[in-house]
Amino acid sequence: MFSLLKKKSQALPTIDFSNIAVDFHAHWLPAVDDGCQTIEESITILTELKHRGYKKVYVSPHIMGERYTNTKHELTARFEDFKNSQLVVDLNLELGLTAEYLLDEKFEDQIKSNNFLTLGNDHLLIETSMNYDFPFVNDYIFELQKLGYKLILAHPERYRYIYQEKNCIDLYLRLIDMGVELQLNLFSLVGLFGAESQKMAERLIEHGAYTYVSSDIHHPQQIKYFIELQNSVFLNTLILSNKLSNQLFL
Ligand SMILES: [Fe+2]
Repeated sequence: MFSLLKKKSQALPTIDFSNIAVDFHAHWLPAVDDGCQTIEESITILTELKHRGYKKVYVSPHIMGERYTNTKHELTARFEDFKNSQLVVDLNLELGLTAEYLLDEKFEDQIKSNNFLTLGNDHLLIETSMNYDFPFVNDYIFELQKLGYKLILAHPERYRYIYQEKNCIDLYLRLIDMGVELQLNLFSLVGLFGAESQKMAERLIEHGAYTYVSSDIHHPQQIKYFIELQNSVFLNTLILSNKLSNQLFL
């Protein structure tokens, strides 16, 4: 895989997103978090995802302390309404609902109620603070695993408190050793979250650390990044590595 990365000038095939098949981290359910606010915005994004070749796409609204107090019950109702609207039916694209859980001080309540919006049967999409090492993350991971959940950590390349450490690669590999799988944000590879996150994403690809990739798309304005990604050497490398397991959620 690494020989490909060294030959950056070598012509690579245009990315065929149908090889990824499933996008499971995105924020296109209208007006539930900081993602899309109108059905028109949602349809624009879903049309693009379909056009890119995705076979199934999930929405993963934030469940985040006091900022986004979404519940499984409310989100399921909102999602069903959305799915049944004529504009969405006409799209003819398979849709799914999951959630993105922030591991913060409020997360303890989620563990107590153990009523999660899973991805597939038993996977959970989790994130941490971008900036600081929340002290109970390891405890939460342990508790969730004890409850039988398989954990997917969203966008590890964005966590400043990890990538600024000298031994950051070891810290990521330790998470993998703990049984946590890592999900790359597609747009990290074109610099949406800054040069340091981009570099970290590239290094994690070189280390074969990612099991999943998703868009984490929030707004139609971000569609342009799909075009920028079309000839990404790193994304091509990741797809060709056969390490991606997105298809598990078809
Ligand atoms: Fe997200």
